[in-house]
Amino acid sequence: MPARSSDESRARGPRVDAPPAEPPAAARARVETLVAELRHHDALYYQHDEPEISDAAYDALRRELEALEAEYPALRSADSPTQRVGAAPAAGFATGTHRTPMLSLENAMNADEMRAFDARIRRFLAADLGEAWSEAGIELMAEPKLDGSAVELVFEKGRFVQGLTRGDGQTGEDVTANLRHVPSIPERLTGRRPPALASVRGEVVLPLEAFESLNRGRAERDLRPFENPRNAAAGSLRQIHDVDYERLRSLEFRAYALEEGRPAAIERQSDVLEQLRAWGFVVSPEVERVPDVDAAIAYHDTLLARRGELPIEIDGTVIKVDRLDLQATLGTVSRAPRWAIAFKFPPEQAVTVLEGIEFQVGRTGALTPVARLRPVRVGGVTVSNASLHNQDELDRKDLRVGDRIVIQRAGDVIPQVVRVRLDRRREALAEGFRLERSRLPERCPVCDARTVRLEGEAVTRCVNLDCPAQLKNNLRHLAGRSALDVDGLGEKLVDQLVETGIVKRLSDVFALDAEQLEGLERMGARSAANLVAAIDRARRTTLPRLLVALGIRHVGETVAELLAGEFGTLDALLEASPERIGAIEGVGPTIAQSVVRFLADPGNRAEIDRFLALGVEIAAPAPEPAGDVGARLLEGLTFVLTGTLGRPRSEAKRQIEAAGGKVTGSVSRKTDYVVAGEDPGSKATRAAELGIPVLDEAGLDTMLAQGPTT
Ligand code: IVH
Repeated sequence: MPARSSDESRARGPRVDAPPAEPPAAARARVETLVAELRHHDALYYQHDEPEISDAAYDALRRELEALEAEYPALRSADSPTQRVGAAPAAGFATGTHRTPMLSLENAMNADEMRAFDARIRRFLAADLGEAWSEAGIELMAEPKLDGSAVELVFEKGRFVQGLTRGDGQTGEDVTANLRHVPSIPERLTGRRPPALASVRGEVVLPLEAFESLNRGRAERDLRPFENPRNAAAGSLRQIHDVDYERLRSLEFRAYALEEGRPAAIERQSDVLEQLRAWGFVVSPEVERVPDVDAAIAYHDTLLARRGELPIEIDGTVIKVDRLDLQATLGTVSRAPRWAIAFKFPPEQAVTVLEGIEFQVGRTGALTPVARLRPVRVGGVTVSNASLHNQDELDRKDLRVGDRIVIQRAGDVIPQVVRVRLDRRREALAEGFRLERSRLPERCPVCDARTVRLEGEAVTRCVNLDCPAQLKNNLRHLAGRSALDVDGLGEKLVDQLVETGIVKRLSDVFALDAEQLEGLERMGARSAANLVAAIDRARRTTLPRLLVALGIRHVGETVAELLAGEFGTLDALLEASPERIGAIEGVGPTIAQSVVRFLADPGNRAEIDRFLALGVEIAAPAPEPAGDVGARLLEGLTFVLTGTLGRPRSEAKRQIEAAGGKVTGSVSRKTDYVVAGEDPGSKATRAAELGIPVLDEAGLDTMLAQGPTT
């Protein structure tokens, strides 16, 4: 909303005398839209760790709302998103109240806004402490703005007792148990006289290397990669079920503030950081005290140039008044301190032409629009595709082939489409583009079957179970590590098998013979024989693996374990009533419905029968305790699992627990045995240091069968 021009104001008389402007209907409507949009994005960001717009786009919406509210205060509601720091915590964790609120920061987007910040501080100090402050030197602390998840850590008498996420700034989620596995969070503060109570604040970040390896692992398991290290850090911290301790160990906590427990001698933010270091925290090595705002701007530019060399993601500089007494004088306005500001880096964005929109068909038949772009360099790489998620996103952004669009790279993952440059549509028309609205196709681009969009769902699907695209994806999934783990059945081969019609349904894979395979490209007699042998090995499997292999929507390793644990055998599961499936703890209604539907389908039943007829065999489950104390061979023993095991970790855990043992996440003196698979990592080293026996997987099997032999 442009500010009213001075001519107009004059025509209506001096503005000071006028009653507060009655908001025009257009402003009211725009505020409503902005509030709704910001709420939506807040929930995605804070509760689901899955934002769908860039930070820059979010900031733009927020600023627009702030400007409207400033112009028409009547439109500012008490619960406007501009009045809150975040969204309330999601269900699942206990909550805790911050001793003092966790604030947010105002942003500056350029050097002018930084100078305005400096001028504001001076005005304020001059008004409070005397005119001399308008010229005085005010030292500033310059720090990297860490792009992670803010947490408060509480230490009582030097011991770590509680860790909370920021949440809505007042109340956060209690993630203490998870934080205890983050190596840079000390259990105890170093030094002799810790304060009775200390509240240390900082950011949990995921270093880029760990982020990339996490995403590689997720891609292998067909899980959606995290958009950026920030979401990955937040997601890791908020794991509730099946906590992945290695993921927690790869996080890093960097401290930047001390709210309570400040020793009396501390007078500056720079002293705070020194104290935090002395207590054993990691403080960003790049922090620097600077004499004035010009030096702060120069620091920002240097840091921006070095951004690519840093091991973690940062998204700007935080500039703080160094003296704590001045900070106290300056105080806080609504959600942010007056004495600090976040000087943001410009996002890595570029403008290019949307040359086409194609639709990919996923394993579950979901059609995903993909933007084909005129290749453009952004953030150091050439980009030619971007995911568009779903039809709603296409509609919301009003993307049309030919459009000039702003794209942005976040972290290492596929680029995002930020928005259309509506101001450049004329160029598209001049190039002969018709700028038609794009719709998800009514027919599957792969098999031409009808597509459907179920009510309440964002996705459109091809519902033809024999669709080659789905079959390919299902076949890849069946060969994956958490399913039947078929060595050598890679992407190219899957494509050929489906395209040549050798595999027409999933079960055909068990009927393959070497002769058929030898006819395929790049398939010698030897690799054909190897593949047949690998498929043969995969035939003998476990119930959870088989369930994963069937490709039932929402049934991954964890749910498969739950189903297998509940029913024990495939027959029992096939006969189970929907009520019983729905009653399993940990299986929500959506998952239960998906399982019930899958099993009720005669086509799927026939496939399962065919799997069995073609030799798929379920290995007998591990001995269950069955109330027989004699079978609890591992009673009282504590195990730690590390590295890649041949079976899913959750299965090893279940077997150990069934035999009366306990499985914990980290090695301590209380650990009795460490079971190490491939690439065991630091836990095995730690076990060696503590003299704890390390078993391989065969050793574990012996133990499960006979109990400890030494
Ligand atoms: S100080 C009272 N220092 O940025 C001010 N915050 O956008 C509290 N952040 O909520 C924050 N690096 O999560 C501070 N060196 C740094 C920071 C930092 C990242 C985060 C923090 C804050 C957010 C505001």
